[in-house]
Amino acid sequence: MKALDAVIRERLYSDVVLIRQVAEYIIGSGGKRLRPAMVLFTAGAAGYQGKNHLELAAVVEFIHTATLLHDDVVDESELRRGNKTANAMFGNAASVLVGDFLYSRAFQMMVGVDDIRVMRVLADATNIIAEGEVLQLLNCNDADVEVEGYLRVIRYKTAKLFEAAARLGGILGGLPAEQEESLAAFGMHIGTAFQLIDDVLDYSGNEAATGKHVGDDLAEGKPTLPLIHVMKHGTPEQAALVRKAIENGGLDELDAVMAAIHETGALEATRAVAVAEAELALKALDCLPPSVYKESLINLSNFAVAREY
Ligand code: IPE
Ligand code: IPE
Ligand code: MG
Ligand code: MG
Repeated sequence: MKALDAVIRERLYSDVVLIRQVAEYIIGSGGKRLRPAMVLFTAGAAGYQGKNHLELAAVVEFIHTATLLHDDVVDESELRRGNKTANAMFGNAASVLVGDFLYSRAFQMMVGVDDIRVMRVLADATNIIAEGEVLQLLNCNDADVEVEGYLRVIRYKTAKLFEAAARLGGILGGLPAEQEESLAAFGMHIGTAFQLIDDVLDYSGNEAATGKHVGDDLAEGKPTLPLIHVMKHGTPEQAALVRKAIENGGLDELDAVMAAIHETGALEATRAVAVAEAELALKALDCLPPSVYKESLINLSNFAVAREY
């Protein structure tokens, strides 16, 4: 992870001062680096011996960081990684444009690796993430979104990059197709669990731990699984309350919505779906021989569900 940090710092360089400022601001405020860790661990588990895993891990983190810069503009979020968001600090225009810089720098780096399969995986993943964010935009303030529609959004916007990260390790290590697919499935299930927990933490998290504001999803009228659960399993009054809160957005009804979430066990139910996804992820790892990397992948999948930040 130290070597990865060195690559990230080196590749962040631009002659344009504002790019350096914004990029270093968001990257310097940390982040868990789960997706690049996924590349490094899967490459290790696949027996990869070269150096391209560091470059590709940095590519994945840059793509992730670009999505965060854009996502915080779209979501009008003010807190990220315990600091003001880049949009709050430098404005929407700077965030969008530096996000573009990070995407395109990531593409320069991945082309440098010069492997058409790697390029295809990353191009496809980046495109799917964009589709996921647009799908989510369409779903905002729509209280009729079903579980399937919600799951599609999180598979696209979040799980796809975890899937790509895990697959890249398999490609680097030259694994047979079947094992590569298992690693990809592992990443996809972890990513899905990860976003399910993110959507739980958006209602129950501690801001000091998550570094993000609680309630951002409700403010944006996002029909995430906790709210879908209340509408499906709550009383008609609770369902109507949540329906209105999604349609109107804003935080006026936050307390009442929180109460309905707790009374219907919506967070526990969402967690249970995340646990089931993590179990599928672990099952997908069965095809790998034991190694310290495999242990790390198992720890990563436990963290995706148990995390509080
Ligand atoms: C945040 O991802 C965006 C989601 C997909 C929920 P992370 O929680 O991995 O963000 P950082 O990089 O650790 O800040
Ligand atoms: C993040 O979704 C997904 C991407 C950045 C593509 P969210 O909007 O739920 O993530 P947070 O809560 O802002 O980190
Ligand atoms: Mg967001
Ligand atoms: Mg969120």
